[in-house]
Amino acid sequence: MSDNALKVYNPSGSRRVVVTKELPGARWLEILANADCRVEINTCTDILSAGEIEEAIGERCDGAIGQLTEEWGQRLFDDLKAAGGTAYSNYAVGYNNVDVDAATAQGIPVGNTPGVLTETTAEMAVALTFTTARRLVEADTFMRGGRFKGWLPSLFLGEILWRKTVGVIGAGRIGAAYARMMVEGHKMNLIYYDLYQNKSLEDYVAAYGAFLRSQGEKPVSCRRADSVEELLREADLVSLHPVLDETTRHLVNAERLAVMKKNAILVNSSRGPVIDETALVAHCQQHPNFRVGLDVCEDEPEMKPGLAELDNVVIVPHIASATIWTREGMATLAAGNVAGILMGYPAWYDKDISPFLSDHPPKAAPSIVNAKELGLPAYTEEASPL
Ligand code: DGY
Repeated sequence: MSDNALKVYNPSGSRRVVVTKELPGARWLEILANADCRVEINTCTDILSAGEIEEAIGERCDGAIGQLTEEWGQRLFDDLKAAGGTAYSNYAVGYNNVDVDAATAQGIPVGNTPGVLTETTAEMAVALTFTTARRLVEADTFMRGGRFKGWLPSLFLGEILWRKTVGVIGAGRIGAAYARMMVEGHKMNLIYYDLYQNKSLEDYVAAYGAFLRSQGEKPVSCRRADSVEELLREADLVSLHPVLDETTRHLVNAERLAVMKKNAILVNSSRGPVIDETALVAHCQQHPNFRVGLDVCEDEPEMKPGLAELDNVVIVPHIASATIWTREGMATLAAGNVAGILMGYPAWYDKDISPFLSDHPPKAAPSIVNAKELGLPAYTEEASPL
């Protein structure tokens, strides 16, 4: 990291924490300063190579906060360990870029930032849904190009989603939040696919259906699909929310695209490689009424050839969690993970991380994904260090 790309906060801190990008907000810096950390922030917007991160870690580094664009594999965890490092946090909820086993082998806790992205990311998936269903980008380009000559009965016909079927693949926190928004807001029936049953989502939709019935309206339904194909065949709108791993890479491929409705809408705000993007381009070229909203690409920041030319695809640059509140919250959690471990705090095993956003956060590391594997003690109020 060149010196002119470096910002140092709390220079007299006795612990050294390296952060590979500038993060929004000020709270995260206070958290690290309160843990006696000197915070060295790389202000360069280019994605750092492993070599540059290695250089930043240097000979002494107590902890690091990295990005989803960086490969945190064995090499970097070996370096971090050799530099005396005992804590790492990803500045993301997803951690497919992190070799957690390699970190665990070095005894390094790995943090992530769940909970603060849920609604924000789901809202972006909703935004992409309607942007594609109602062809907003095409229509906006048309207007700005001065091509609007007056109202026409068949100008930019799109799809109505109200009372149709929404398919959600991956019904974890974000997928379930998106499902509720589409079911409640647009009275869509829900079909979801997940390895695990989401009972609370099913109960929620059932209760909403009962409410609609009590209002004299047709209820909505919810069903867990037995297979991805079953969901793809039935849904008018499909939104992808699985974690990326070897079982979900190219989950949506040419064969599966072929079973979808020809006028279906596909939204991806999870990870790019969940879709075989080359197959997607071919499918969209052949089926102009098939519409796609992408927050993520397979080879970010690149797009596969042909994708950018497609009118039936809307693409944004991986910004689903980009609200001020969320990105500041992510910084708070990432800093809390690193500071908590450096301070010797126990781990927070609860899924609800909201106490860490309060003025008096618990003395714990909010979200350590390998806490169990490392045998980190669990936070309890009685055991909390003063
Ligand atoms: C995450 O946190 O995993 C998102 O993709 C970044 O917003």
